[in-house]
Amino acid sequence: MAGRCAILIANGFFPVTEETRADAVAYPWIERCLHEVDRRSSGVDYEVHVWDSTGIPEHLEAIRSHDRAHLWEGEAEIGPGARLSHRDALDQLVARVGDDVEYLVFLDSDALPVADGWLPRMTAVLEEGKAAIGILRDEQAPRVPPFIHVSCLCIRRQQMLATGVTFGGGGDGDEPSLRLTEALTGTGLAVATLERTNAVEAHPILAGLYADLVYHHGAGSRPAWFYGSTDQGADERMRLLLRRAAFDDFDHLVAVLRGQVPNDLWPVDAEGPASGPAPDTDVGSPVGTAAAPAPDPAMFAHYERGTELGRLEHVNRLEYLRSRTILSERLPGGGRLIDVGGGPGTYASWFASLGYRVDLVDPIPLHVEQARQAAARGAAFDAHVGDARQLDIDDRVADAVVMMGPLFHLVAADDRARALAEAYRVLRPGGVLAASAMGRFFLFGHAVAGNEVRSPGVVERISSIVETGDRPDGWGPFPAHAHRPDELGAEVRAAGFVDVQVLAIEGWFHLLGDISARLDDPASASALLDLLHRFESDPGLLESSGHLMAVGRRPAEAD
Ligand SMILES: C[S@@+](CC[C@H](N)C(=O)[O-])C[C@H]1O[C@@H](n2cnc3c(N)ncnc32)[C@H](O)[C@@H]1O
Repeated sequence: MAGRCAILIANGFFPVTEETRADAVAYPWIERCLHEVDRRSSGVDYEVHVWDSTGIPEHLEAIRSHDRAHLWEGEAEIGPGARLSHRDALDQLVARVGDDVEYLVFLDSDALPVADGWLPRMTAVLEEGKAAIGILRDEQAPRVPPFIHVSCLCIRRQQMLATGVTFGGGGDGDEPSLRLTEALTGTGLAVATLERTNAVEAHPILAGLYADLVYHHGAGSRPAWFYGSTDQGADERMRLLLRRAAFDDFDHLVAVLRGQVPNDLWPVDAEGPASGPAPDTDVGSPVGTAAAPAPDPAMFAHYERGTELGRLEHVNRLEYLRSRTILSERLPGGGRLIDVGGGPGTYASWFASLGYRVDLVDPIPLHVEQARQAAARGAAFDAHVGDARQLDIDDRVADAVVMMGPLFHLVAADDRARALAEAYRVLRPGGVLAASAMGRFFLFGHAVAGNEVRSPGVVERISSIVETGDRPDGWGPFPAHAHRPDELGAEVRAAGFVDVQVLAIEGWFHLLGDISARLDDPASASALLDLLHRFESDPGLLESSGHLMAVGRRPAEAD
């Protein structure tokens, strides 16, 4: 390779919200990117410049710890509070590269080299006479002509400066990479394209392999919004699924996209590549692979952020302690237990430690993975991806089914009936169901405790939730249903269960701001738990309880 190469990366996330920030912390693409650059660029004379607009300490640390990376901290360079757009950040970087640099390589933080020699292979194309080489984007043609995209683009520094093109400064809908392509081709220069070479496609835009040199996730730190998309929910689910795959085992994902190993990451229908499948991928079910109903996209996105891990041990300790008491007193002493909607496996670990043979089922691949890690660390149990409405489990095999979550996530009464019917089907006669639900006044209590009731519209929304039980999509992080005790009991009985009891789990005491500290005091904890135990069936406590637990029995053959 003739000269020195500068790789320019603008590190940011979009839009800037608490959620996207949490995403960027959980999935630091910049770290992945720098790792793969390092791994695939040995023997090359290169430097890396990263303009950081995140201020996220983990990102800054990843950049600082990379031997060849120079960190430009956006705020330090431009001023407090300044946050540059991706395009403006790239312009800042171009302006800061030294004269000794021959080639500029623009790289998105979710564009990861996949082949040794990726840099020399791009610069060789420039040596052969092309003015630039970049990822081909043509999905908007003919509305927008095909162009080479700045997500991975190599150009001589002098050539870039000679065009006078900057990335920033355009209006809405302006495509700066197109401006650069046109500035080059308009003066008779030729550009080369890095074309998509996937043997296996996950999605028309996401997870592209380009000239088998670079993988581009395509929506690394932003939601999956694409031109011409007909199903944003499916796009988003696929984005999250591919992101997990990229962070879990990047080489495996690339091998799947190259067609080198069987695709065990997402279902592919007989018609060809899926353009946005539901995330019902079975990640190792011991009991089969039948497709389950798709989970709600907002719920999927919420849980894929990893919010559930540790919930019971910290903010919801009272719920955890009380649920364990109720379950200990009512489940059979051992046997096979199915934990439906078991999340990251906190209860499943406990059940397994008590000697139950546990199968955890959950629709969120991250939860299943976390549960498997918990099972590997402590008492063993199985975990697999699945849905309460269609359990991939034989009839009459379980001694107990625990369902703590699905009934408040399934907003349609029919879906809840399906989930309860499935629990009934897999239980042996005489087997026990314990199913929790969110209490009707739970969201009311939280809105008051958090002083959200002052916000416009909240009073109307809370009134509607109390009247109907339904929190529709858009009123919270996911749609939900809040039960009245009688309603929960009626649903469980309608599924065929007998001896049904509905119990208050934590009352309204989770709303006390210092509840966790009180539970640290053994005298306070045992007094509160004792009182809750005594009044768990009291109608007053039940109606106001944050969560409810219904316990019922599948009738024995002799009943
Ligand atoms: C609040 S978490 C509770 C997790 C765990 N059971 C616990 O009590 O800590 C709700 C769980 O229900 C799961 N879930 C939601 N809809 C489901 C469905 N249709 N089938 C099975 N699980 C579902 C979610 O993925 C999530 O793990």
